[in-house]
Amino acid sequence: MSKITNICCIGAGYVGGPTMAVIAAKCPHIKVTIVDLNVARIAAWNDENLDNLPVYEPGLDKIVGEARGRNLFFTTEVEKAIDEAQMIFISVNTPTKTYGLGKGKAADLKYIELCARQIAAVAKDDKIVVEKSTLPVRTAEAVRSILDNTGNGVKFQILSNPEFLAEGTAMEDLLAPDRVLIGGDTDPEGVAAIDALVEVYANWIPKERILTTNVWSSELSKLTANAFLAQRVSSINAMSELCEKTGADVSEVARAIGMDSRIGPKFLKASVGFGGSCFQKDILNLVYIAKSYGLDEVADYWEQVIIMNDHQKRRFASNMVKTLYNTVSGKKLAFLGWAFKKDTNDTRESAAIYVADDLLYEQAGIAVYDPKVEEEQILADLNYLGTRSKEENAKGVTTFSDPYDACKDAHAIAVLTEWDEFKGYDWQRIYDNMKKPAFVFDGRNVLDGEYLKSIGFVFQTIGK
Ligand code: NAD
Ligand code: UGA
Repeated sequence: MSKITNICCIGAGYVGGPTMAVIAAKCPHIKVTIVDLNVARIAAWNDENLDNLPVYEPGLDKIVGEARGRNLFFTTEVEKAIDEAQMIFISVNTPTKTYGLGKGKAADLKYIELCARQIAAVAKDDKIVVEKSTLPVRTAEAVRSILDNTGNGVKFQILSNPEFLAEGTAMEDLLAPDRVLIGGDTDPEGVAAIDALVEVYANWIPKERILTTNVWSSELSKLTANAFLAQRVSSINAMSELCEKTGADVSEVARAIGMDSRIGPKFLKASVGFGGSCFQKDILNLVYIAKSYGLDEVADYWEQVIIMNDHQKRRFASNMVKTLYNTVSGKKLAFLGWAFKKDTNDTRESAAIYVADDLLYEQAGIAVYDPKVEEEQILADLNYLGTRSKEENAKGVTTFSDPYDACKDAHAIAVLTEWDEFKGYDWQRIYDNMKKPAFVFDGRNVLDGEYLKSIGFVFQTIGK
């Protein structure tokens, strides 16, 4: 395969958009075309006003602004882009199945299969197909079977190149990743394909950080990394409940264990529970894979990470109800934050959704303020759960564009996302305008509890 000068990426989402924008920015000699079936999403990527990009990530607007129209293109012309590219990344969504065998656990690979069939149908010359989406181990086998059996007799190489970026820090993660992982076949053609992708990344990433493995190791490493990360959060969250009973402080415990170089300080922040599109989905998928090989103990071990996380979300809501005199019916409860973490507009699997759902069940009125999430998204998240009618959700939830309005006349405030701006609010003003006693439930350990208590708030946080 000659030097790569033309790349196509199928899927212009949270991964496809930022990863390809960085490749285009760092490799001006490569034409990068991102395609998607979603017309509105492509239009938003092409919006002249960079504030309207469909993905909010600090620094993304600058990179897209630099490369778009030069060597970075967003289009719905999927076939043309596939035809022209030497290397095709598949970066489509792989959600948990909501039907059939493996419902609620297995990854739904229908979008992956559609991509493989489309590539096979269009390709008129040899292509390297790169799995960028997170996939069950051995998916490359299925992709190969489709490509080889439905193609036009051209040769395909399949690589696994999972993405490790975290939302909110995607640009830093892509510009200076801990590592890039590339899995491929070990025969000469496979090695040549791996080398072609290594050369792309080597334009800005030191070679010693580009790791190459066989395809199965690469596919499984991605699920393993997410499982380990989520497990750390569930582990510290489990300890947070014990801290609350014993007088220990979970932040002090985290600091004490994090200074052990074998444990390390990262990913030890107790919280209302992890969210995001991937941790739960990927662990459920891992559990499903383990079970399908008859490895019940392995499956049960990892499932516990999810069970703990569900418990953490539920106990946050039930603690609010208990503290508010066992009834929140008809009370205004203000939510600061709806996104699953700060610095993103992504709300998928956010803990806020589940806490709100439990409180709506108790007939609370929820007032939401999030700097980056719109009302339409908040209602869509609740409606997706199917707990009650759309009308009931719309009646129970009000969205505010001003945090002080959201908190006015509220009985309690719950901090669900760790947005930095929350720390700098005029908390005296918020207190003055709330019902008394005024409660704050900090689900992220971000506020200065002692200061809030000195104002008069009843303050509760996780793990203290
Ligand atoms: P997303 O839902 O934001 O984007 C996927 C896009 O693919 C959508 O815009 C959809 O319209 C498009 N698409 C689906 N089928 C298509 C088809 N046949 N042709 C053209 N377009 C199609 O998803 P995402 O968050 O970008 O995640 C994509 C993959 O990356 C998933 O497997 C996920 O697990 C993995 N991943 C995500 C993150 C993250 O932070 N979000 C990080 C690492 C890995
Ligand atoms: C995570 C991984 O960190 C990425 O490496 C991976 O690529 C990605 O999933 C993916 O595969 O999608 P992301 O979900 O974007 O990234 O964000 P994280 O920073 O991992 O946070 C996930 C959730 O855990 C958030 O709700 C966050 O608030 C929570 N969290 C994280 C904690 O509660 N405590 C912590 O100490 C860390």
